Amino acid sequence: MVAGTDLRRAAEILASSSRAVAFTGAGISAEAGIPTFRGRGGLWETFRPEELATPEAFSRDPRRVWEWYAWRIRKVLSAEPTPAHRVLAEWEAEGRLAGVITQNVDGLHQRAGSRRVVELHGRITQARCTGCYKTLEFEAPPEEVPPRCRDCGSLLRPDVVWFGESLPEVDWRKAAELSRSCDVMIVIGTSAVVYPAAQLPLIAKASGADLIEVNPERTALSKTADVSLRMRASAALTALDKLLRR
Ligand code: APR
Repeated sequence: MVAGTDLRRAAEILASSSRAVAFTGAGISAEAGIPTFRGRGGLWETFRPEELATPEAFSRDPRRVWEWYAWRIRKVLSAEPTPAHRVLAEWEAEGRLAGVITQNVDGLHQRAGSRRVVELHGRITQARCTGCYKTLEFEAPPEEVPPRCRDCGSLLRPDVVWFGESLPEVDWRKAAELSRSCDVMIVIGTSAVVYPAAQLPLIAKASGADLIEVNPERTALSKTADVSLRMRASAALTALDKLLRR
């Protein structure tokens, strides 16, 4: 259990905040059964990102890429938001949180009730046509792999940001604005090594915000954080929520 002092300190920071923002990574969805990328049991221990999550991989072998994404879509569609997702949604509804910036593509923040969510890396259950650029939502994993556009017959691709691709400009601007204007950023479940997303906590810090980190492991951000809670996301968020309601 983390020393109560860290938790109390984080709760004090949040209690006196007027514009907190959450920045989340795969770790917040780990307890929903969705594998993280790095660290113990992470996807990149078994798979090579260059073979699955790059435009070159897709043009080289779209079937292999789609087999991996169909597997991940299945996991995402059968997952439920965690208590950590739900606490963030409650804090937003109560005006304690101005929004969530997420690197995740699983849509669990929205399914937990969060409304102001900036998805930096897209959404895995959406696909877009490589021919006519139409986008569509998968209610279930695609039967046919690789799936093709019903209108023009071209290959569909997952509507996510791959390595080597730039983030959607509008989303990046929204995320940078939220990071500049917040007075607290709570950073949950990210290794903070993938740029440009990993720049956002540094932008927040440089703009005078306090940084609270929630991660069972030390990360690249730990030395910059004002408080690091070495805890899993759901335990930390529910403990903070309890302290804030005292
Ligand atoms: N609660 C909180 N944090 C956790 C938990 C948990 N239950 N379980 C694991 N973690 C932490 C790990 O210690 C690790 O630091 O979550 C972090 C997950 O890190 P990554 O797997 O690197 O995920 P993320 O930081 O979101 O990756 C960023 O990299 O591969 C790309 O596009 C992908 O969006 C992803 C980006």
